[in-house]
Amino acid sequence: MKLNSSSKVYIAGCGGMLGDAVYTNLVATGATVLASDINLTEPWLVYADVRDYQKMHKAIVAFKPHLLINLAALTDLEYCELNADDAWLTNALGAENLGLIANQLDIPYVYISTAGIFGGEKETYNDFDMPNPLALYAKSKYYGERYVCANVPKHFVLRAGWMMGGGPAKDKKFINKLFKQIQAGAKSLNVVDDKLGTPTYTVDFANGMVKIIESELYGLYNQVCSGTSSRYEVAVELIKLLGLESAIKINIVDSDFFAKDYFAPRPASEQLVNLKLNQRGLNIMRDWKICLAEYANSFR
Ligand SMILES: NC(=O)c1ccc[n+]([C@@H]2O[C@H](COP(=O)([O-])OP(=O)(O)OC[C@H]3O[C@@H](n4cnc5c(N)ncnc54)[C@H](OP(=O)(O)O)[C@@H]3O)[C@@H](O)[C@H]2O)c1
Repeated sequence: MKLNSSSKVYIAGCGGMLGDAVYTNLVATGATVLASDINLTEPWLVYADVRDYQKMHKAIVAFKPHLLINLAALTDLEYCELNADDAWLTNALGAENLGLIANQLDIPYVYISTAGIFGGEKETYNDFDMPNPLALYAKSKYYGERYVCANVPKHFVLRAGWMMGGGPAKDKKFINKLFKQIQAGAKSLNVVDDKLGTPTYTVDFANGMVKIIESELYGLYNQVCSGTSSRYEVAVELIKLLGLESAIKINIVDSDFFAKDYFAPRPASEQLVNLKLNQRGLNIMRDWKICLAEYANSFR
């Protein structure tokens, strides 16, 4: 399908880090976009809860979209451990609810999964490696991924890594957590070097999403920036980009240091490679250091 001014796209869970970039990109195609969330962070969002099948069905069917994108999730791993039912209902049943609606309308369905579904037994995972989710968040996302792949014929399941995007107002993850400490006047940052992952810039991810949708090559894809890293390497790069090397010291710690605050199990490595996207000529993801340099501008 070619996205243009005659396309209509419904995006659920569009108020977060990734929603920002996906909304901008979809609007840029000329498509008419209806975006919803339970957290109304923008004036262009309407309220809709993916846990509520009946209301979602009514809202989506009334809009008559040609494409359905589901970005809704609870992404705080500790919240998910403590609120298992909510995590299952949002991340797993939400995926199922919207998948059923996409099937009824016979339209393509985009679901976002996570590198966190892997167990860390190896250093790098391709699209075909066997998941082994450790945390409740990862288990609920993996359920969503499996449901969609097995039951929604026109599916795009895109796996992201360590998300970077949304800027100071929306970024709930590592970059903004560091930035908030810096803003509060921290002279040193404690950062782990025993967790490996692949930063994933939302702007590139949204660009890639459009390209993949337009290819009509349905399926499951890893989609992360190129280059692998530890949390420590990302922090070093960010401090360098912000010109704060002489002002802020980075202390290397191991994950035990944060065991109380970050008690959800996390794999030692969740690094992904975009094997399928590369082979199909659909990989537009840039190196994470180039992306971080661009993203750091929103924190200056
Ligand atoms: N963030 C990451 O590091 C990461 C990594 C890999 C994959 N992903 C996946 O990428 C997708 C987008 O996540 P993101 O990074 O943009 O996270 P995000 O910033 O938390 O955005 C998700 C949005 O969904 C909303 N939401 C939560 N429950 C909902 C419900 N029941 N109905 C409708 N909306 C609901 C959230 O609202 P609240 O703000 O109220 O929670 C939030 O606005 C998700 O599928 C996520 O699992 C994220």
